[in-house]
Amino acid sequence: MAFLDKHKVIETHATLLLVLSFLVVTIGGLVQIVPLFYLENTIEKVEGVRPYSPMELAGREIYVREGCYVCHSQMIRPMRDEVERYGHYSLAAESMYDHPFQWGSKRTGPDLARVGGRYSDEWHVDHLMDPQSVVPESVMPKYEYLMGNKLDGAHVADSMWANQVVGVPYTDEMMQNAVADFAAQADPNADSEGLLARYPGAQVRNFDGQAAVTEMDALIAYLQVLGTMVDFSTFQPDPNR
Ligand code: HEC
Repeated sequence: MAFLDKHKVIETHATLLLVLSFLVVTIGGLVQIVPLFYLENTIEKVEGVRPYSPMELAGREIYVREGCYVCHSQMIRPMRDEVERYGHYSLAAESMYDHPFQWGSKRTGPDLARVGGRYSDEWHVDHLMDPQSVVPESVMPKYEYLMGNKLDGAHVADSMWANQVVGVPYTDEMMQNAVADFAAQADPNADSEGLLARYPGAQVRNFDGQAAVTEMDALIAYLQVLGTMVDFSTFQPDPNR
């Protein structure tokens, strides 16, 4: 009983209770957080995941600017209904080069983490120009103006630099070729050897079907790469992690 009486001292002195609570929370917090600083990496590396190509990165910026994440998530949870509908659950590595990440918190529309390759470019153009022409009951807004906004990739090296600052491993070679790689990805006649060596698996074609390179090209290039970097027919999760 004497021990419990001592606890009464703490319970009846608000300041002492506050100081001691703070101490307990501090110790608990340190125990959880400090080990993370000593881990080399908290994300398991997965083969195939690479930084976005300049064109994909430009498209990703349009996705962020337009607020697509307000209605769409990019995070497939490891639950049966989600995996059956969208595919393999999302891996941490798949968003390791996303700054900021696009997991989202609301699904007015479907999850887009694996939308790459699910539809043709023409479908995306029709859908973004006028979603209701493809899905009559859709509440998605029209983005037809993307078709008229020309892009020359002039600022793409700046975005790559910003991503580099927060840890995306863009090399000097990637930075020097930023504008050329940007142009090459939307031009099926260009020499895309360098682009493909730097960004394996990058899809090279005229995405929006018009002569000029527009925001529509970039956004579709981004949508078409989502979820396609990891080959899930051969992927084996490491059971020791
Ligand atoms: C107001 C909410 C809303 C916003 C904002 C929105 N969408 Fe959607 N989106 C939807 C809904 C609802 C659907 C499902 C019906 C349809 O296909 O149109 C959808 C469907 C889609 C699909 C087809 C997905 C599938 O698996 O069938 C894609 C791709 C897509 N949206 C891309 C985008 C992009 C890119 C943006 C930003 C430029 C965007 N959406 C903004 C609501 C939204």
